[in-house]
Amino acid sequence: MQAIVTLRALIAIMSCMVFPAAAQYPYDVPYVPTPAVVIEEMLRLAKVGPDDSVIDLGSGDGRVVIMAAKKFGARGVGVDLDADLIEESVYNAAQQEVSERVTFIRQDLFQFDISQATVVTMYLLPGVVLRLRPRLLKELRPGTRIVAHDFPIEDWQPDEKSTVRKNVFMWIVPAQVGGRWRASATLPTGERSYDIEIRQKYQEIDGLVRLDKRVSGLWNPKLTADRVSFVIVDDNGPVETNLYFEGRVAGDTIEGVIKRGVGKDETQIKWRATRVAAGT
Ligand SMILES: C[S@@+](CC[C@H](N)C(=O)[O-])C[C@H]1O[C@@H](n2cnc3c(N)ncnc32)[C@H](O)[C@@H]1O
Repeated sequence: MQAIVTLRALIAIMSCMVFPAAAQYPYDVPYVPTPAVVIEEMLRLAKVGPDDSVIDLGSGDGRVVIMAAKKFGARGVGVDLDADLIEESVYNAAQQEVSERVTFIRQDLFQFDISQATVVTMYLLPGVVLRLRPRLLKELRPGTRIVAHDFPIEDWQPDEKSTVRKNVFMWIVPAQVGGRWRASATLPTGERSYDIEIRQKYQEIDGLVRLDKRVSGLWNPKLTADRVSFVIVDDNGPVETNLYFEGRVAGDTIEGVIKRGVGKDETQIKWRATRVAAGT
């Protein structure tokens, strides 16, 4: 039977050795290739397609970006510090006839500009991923998918998880929506403004709304990439009304529609909000 070496197994072996693990390999993570079936599942989970620009952080022999180009039609960049692996990647890309769509760069992944990626892939150790996390959240555009072989990113819950021989995790980078917002809309009952406070932990949000000096809940709050939605029960008028807010976050502005009423009575009203105080 074929022996499958994994990073997890390697860490376990190294932790039993006399020397510290860091002494066993020259970079932050040792080279352990991801099996082809696992890469296919990673790229499938991230819904990689021809419009995507995939960056593999610690790209080994280039297999992830080569498959992204060959099977999914994407463009790709592999970043690795190991010169031999970079050379091997360039050779492998030529063999697979995808040299025009992939690039391999010898650089420290902590220095590499990731801002242009639409998909970031990685098979790195938990501590390395944790060091990367602030950059992933700050520098990647909302909606960028991050897909990891094997290791979660501590308390950042994945948006999706799959296990096909190995665990694969996928996160969608959320917009920064935490803080206080002043929202306004013209309802049939007149001009209305809402003082909304949103708390955010990664893609999980909750919040409050101040309505005529009363505080009420922000119901069903959801954030996916730059799309935010929630429900406010407004009693300004003859009866209480559910107002279904949907909007798109762009910096310190949210714009979207409020859906009001159901069935044939449903109407849509535009709303806009500006951030008046940053989240903590
Ligand atoms: C576990 S392998 C993953 C290879 C490939 N992504 C795959 O899934 O088959 C990790 C790779 O990260 C590279 N690496 C480790 N530390 C790095 C660093 N600071 N910058 C760039 N590459 C690094 C190693 O040389 C190795 O090729």
